[in-house]
Amino acid sequence: MRSARARMLSNVALSSALVASCAPAVERDPLEDPTISRSRFNAFRCATCHAVGEGDARILPGARLDGALARSSFWGGAIGTARGAVDECFGHFMRGDALDREPEADARLLRRLSELRSVRGALTDVVPFTVVTQTAPPVGGDRERGRALYGRACGYCHGAAHTGEGRLGVTTSILPEDTERSHPSASGYTLETLRHTFVHKARLGSFNGFAGTMPPFSREVLSDDELADIVAYLDPTLR
Ligand code: HEC
Ligand code: HEC
Repeated sequence: MRSARARMLSNVALSSALVASCAPAVERDPLEDPTISRSRFNAFRCATCHAVGEGDARILPGARLDGALARSSFWGGAIGTARGAVDECFGHFMRGDALDREPEADARLLRRLSELRSVRGALTDVVPFTVVTQTAPPVGGDRERGRALYGRACGYCHGAAHTGEGRLGVTTSILPEDTERSHPSASGYTLETLRHTFVHKARLGSFNGFAGTMPPFSREVLSDDELADIVAYLDPTLR
């Protein structure tokens, strides 16, 4: 026969198990959490621009995060430490404060990146990142290929072309209409310069004179031919 005391103890154990199952069991993955940045303008997660491991079908501007802590340089050699690389993303794209002023986010991110060193096949080699500053207007381009490439490279932020359905938020432009609106032909913009703007923006993101928070696409992740296909798909005269 179990004593009253033993029964009581097992009830206590049961109720604390229930409490435990109601409490958040695991901490939210900081790479999937836009609120690690306190900026109310931020809609990005680290995982918006970076994959972990192989097999992500998206064309992503940022390098894989597994193995990143073991690499010897970052951002194509422009940044010397992994923490500096993360700080750039956190501050520039996610509009966070510098990581040393957000110690909690800093600690969570570095702990997570450290865990990812042990992902099987972790990518520890330096990842090349060629920034294209001199862009040429797109030549040719295949609309059908562009449709699929748009989905893989642009659609996970911008949503569907023309409607923006599924886009990250209202500040993520609807393509190509918002671009046409901000560059009206009345101000001397020709179709050719408009098409060139897509290439320019994709290559430079929110750097080199462009405002905003969009990331740049290096030539390693998106070739000039692929970009020309995307522009052919977005061509406002062909909707
Ligand atoms: C809007 C897109 C975007 C977001 C959001 C973003 N990054 Fe990045 N990240 C980039 C780009 C572009 C680069 C430069 C290309 C590269 O080196 O990967 C980069 C570079 C890096 C690198 C250096 C990789 C290397 O080998 O050069 C690390 C590490 C990194 N980011 C971590 C993070 C973390 C952690 C977060 C979330 C706090 C984050 N990033 C959020 C786009 C982004
Ligand atoms: C990581 C998210 C993200 C990805 C991926 C992305 N963009 Fe953007 N893009 C944005 C955001 C946010 C804005 C608005 C803020 C800004 O201008 O930076 C923007 C703005 C733009 C604009 C300016 C529109 C205007 O109002 O004039 C163009 C053009 C553009 N993107 C093209 C592209 C193309 C082409 C691709 C794919 C090759 C792409 N973007 C991929 C986030 C993204």
